Amino acid sequence: MSKLIDVQNLTLQFRTDEGLITAVDDVSFSIDRGEVMGLVGESGSGKSVTAKALMHLNAGNAIYAPESRIILHTDQGEVDVLSLKKQSDLKLVRGGAISMIFQEPMASFAPALSIGKQMVEQLQLHSDMSKARAKEISIEMLDRVGISDASKRFDQYAFELSGGMRQRAMIAMALSTKPKLLIADEPTTALDVTIQAQVIDLMKDLVGEFGMGIIFITHDLGVVAQTADKVSVMYLGRLIEEGPVREVIRTPAHPYTQGLLAALPKLEDLDSPLTPVPGDIPSPLERPPGCVFHTRCPKVIGDICRRTLPHAIDVAKGHSAACHLHEEAKGAA
Ligand SMILES: Nc1ncnc2c1ncn2[C@@H]1O[C@H](COP(=O)(O)OP(=O)(O)OP(=O)(O)O)[C@@H](O)[C@H]1O
Ligand code: SF4
Ligand SMILES: [Mg+2]
Repeated sequence: MSKLIDVQNLTLQFRTDEGLITAVDDVSFSIDRGEVMGLVGESGSGKSVTAKALMHLNAGNAIYAPESRIILHTDQGEVDVLSLKKQSDLKLVRGGAISMIFQEPMASFAPALSIGKQMVEQLQLHSDMSKARAKEISIEMLDRVGISDASKRFDQYAFELSGGMRQRAMIAMALSTKPKLLIADEPTTALDVTIQAQVIDLMKDLVGEFGMGIIFITHDLGVVAQTADKVSVMYLGRLIEEGPVREVIRTPAHPYTQGLLAALPKLEDLDSPLTPVPGDIPSPLERPPGCVFHTRCPKVIGDICRRTLPHAIDVAKGHSAACHLHEEAKGAA
């Protein structure tokens, strides 16, 4: 598979009245064409701001460290996303090569415009197609994502659709420009389980059909297991584990990932108590020194965890974890 996007040493801070917040700290990953990456972690771990960085879409108070690089591989060559400044250049990564389905479904549609009008505008912004052709493609896409009576829905407003329909319409809009990378930020959390499963199936079909890459962001490792090829786990702005999805779920290497998995209900033993990761994620204004997880880690080794930042170590092919336990194991081997 060929490379689609390379994120290298992404560090992102926000200027706030309380001081500088480090939201993403030295994160690197890459995605190939046709690959689905799940990005998981608790609330506030930096998933959405990482995703928005790929479209250079973070708020005006964002500061990117100079060594941060996001390289998009296009048919025309490499694009250094964070160096794009002009609106006309940014169009390439905002709804062009990259599309995002946002966490808040209502926020993605302007309330005063019909769904169809917004889809047509989006298409015309990214190509020089006629209005009539843009309408045709939009209705085709609405139909493709399973919206019945697509030509009627085309003229409706977001508030007239049910939650599941709105989600589908959002996917249709995001896909209409045929992006190379689709970022789906918690696209299913507001949906009931049956519709969740339909939306997940739909996205899987579309990867096959369009050969695009997908970043699927969620709190839920169960959803990742159903959708992704590989998974990256974030905690307080650090990427603490990544690897092939089945392997990470079967043999999680980082104590935080182990905790997330232990917190999932087990179908074969519904009576056993769920054991959530103890404690709360610290405020990003008070990031712990050393390993960012040490304030909650049940396996903390000692001072090394409290003082020294662990770096990613390969625990198997394509599977890495940033934890001193694995450094010790390697050292002992
Ligand atoms: N514009 C901003 N100014 C200041 N802080 C911000 C800004 N945007 C995000 N943050 C902070 O950055 C951190 C990461 O936020 P982010 O939205 O990426 O979390 P998340 O992992 O997507 O969480 P959730 O699962 O709740 O969506 C949080 O502490 C958040 O408060
Ligand atoms: S480095 Fe230490 S504190 Fe951090 S996850 Fe590993 S054992 Fe726990
Ligand atoms: Mg988020």
